[in-house]
Amino acid sequence: MAKDRALKIAIAGLGTVGVGVVKILTQHAELMGARAGQAIEIIAISARDRSRNRGVDLTSYSWSDNLVDLAAIEDVDIIVELVGGSDGPALTLARTALAAGKSFVTANKALIAVHGRELAALAEKTGATLRFEAAVAGGIPILKSLAEGLAGNHISGLYGILNGTCNYILTRMEREGLSFGEVLADAQRLGYAEADPSFDIDGIDTAHKTAILAALAFGTAPSMDMTIEGIRNIAPVDIDYAKELGYRIKLLGVARQTEEGVETSVHPAMVPLAAPLAKVMDALNAVVVQGDHVGETVYTGAGAGEGPTASAVVADIIDIARGNSYPAFGVPTDALKDLPAMPPGQHKGTFYVRLRVEDASGVMADITAVLARENVSIESMLQRGMAPGGGVYIILTTHLTAEAAVSSTLKHFTKLECVLETPTMIRIEAF
Ligand SMILES: NC(=O)c1ccc[n+]([C@@H]2O[C@H](COP(=O)([O-])OP(=O)(O)OC[C@H]3O[C@@H](n4cnc5c(N)ncnc54)[C@H](OP(=O)(O)O)[C@@H]3O)[C@@H](O)[C@H]2O)c1
Repeated sequence: MAKDRALKIAIAGLGTVGVGVVKILTQHAELMGARAGQAIEIIAISARDRSRNRGVDLTSYSWSDNLVDLAAIEDVDIIVELVGGSDGPALTLARTALAAGKSFVTANKALIAVHGRELAALAEKTGATLRFEAAVAGGIPILKSLAEGLAGNHISGLYGILNGTCNYILTRMEREGLSFGEVLADAQRLGYAEADPSFDIDGIDTAHKTAILAALAFGTAPSMDMTIEGIRNIAPVDIDYAKELGYRIKLLGVARQTEEGVETSVHPAMVPLAAPLAKVMDALNAVVVQGDHVGETVYTGAGAGEGPTASAVVADIIDIARGNSYPAFGVPTDALKDLPAMPPGQHKGTFYVRLRVEDASGVMADITAVLARENVSIESMLQRGMAPGGGVYIILTTHLTAEAAVSSTLKHFTKLECVLETPTMIRIEAF
């Protein structure tokens, strides 16, 4: 039976996502209320610039110049934070709201990746609910899937394309044969990439999301203790060779449980062309989850943008209205496990290595001597015509080997006189 009293929410941040939430809650008010079991009413809002025209009618909501004041409004049930940043006002608002027993919904991956455990514990203490579906993969309900739909499984691993900007750049590099710099400049002009794109292209954004996914999948606290590599060094030639070898390059967030500990990392990887993740193009996101009973499940959709992200925020609000309040990371914070992390370099897999070398006799002998010394066994070796800048490219793929051994081999390659530039190494993910 529907409740008489409306669920009252306050929204901090009225940018892309905040305005999207206002639109859904006003345009579909009746449907959302029916699903929630009570009307959902926005009563207060906050952003920096009160005078800005945001394309939606905000006149009936009370305005706060200081977003933290929203948490002090007595009859607010849920604070929705759509500002961003791991610290600063978003963190202060989260702490104040949860301490006051108000539920807290956010799209802020940085906040949850860095302070998730503390905030989840605070929510438990005061009986509030903490939800952040929109923080990972935008419109794809992947956190709910991990916490609820897959709750009957031991999750051994997950892999995700979690940053639309990187996937867009890699897609255009492949389709148009352009360099990373050319596509990035164009993406910035079109609004697909930020003026300061480093959070996206250097893998930090993907790392925040991977930390949250790993926490829900394995029942651990989110941790940013992982190796992070972005896509700046991917060259069109790597994309071409990947295709020739039967792969496509994607920036992946990876979390898996291994005998050596939990491995979480962000890195560009060669993915077999037939794998589901290889088919995810443009700005789309996707996550593959491996559960012991369910097997492999694949989730794909829009990872960002006004509508998809607001869709996830509203789903969290409705969940709270329904009284569906599972712990933020799937288990209570005192049951979160401290699983040991896999030591760096211990990853075992196969690798792609690209060398630009002098076009001279004896070069192959030098290279194979280093490989033999480092005990790295080669699955294939390709040599193609002249490389731009002089010399020729040699492309190696390895058999199963430890990443530390390949890294050490690369260091020795760099010392060879015949090697003309720093070698490139890309993981090959076999799934
Ligand atoms: N955009 C996406 O597709 C997307 C996808 C997934 C997750 N997210 C996450 O959602 C959150 C919001 O993203 P967005 O794209 O909507 O950002 P945005 O368009 O930049 O909007 C940010 C909003 O926060 C307000 N703000 C900033 N600092 C403030 C302060 N000190 N006090 C009060 N208000 C403040 C801004 O006010 P003014 O408008 O007055 O400047 C603006 O309304 C971020 O955590 C982001 O990571 C976004």
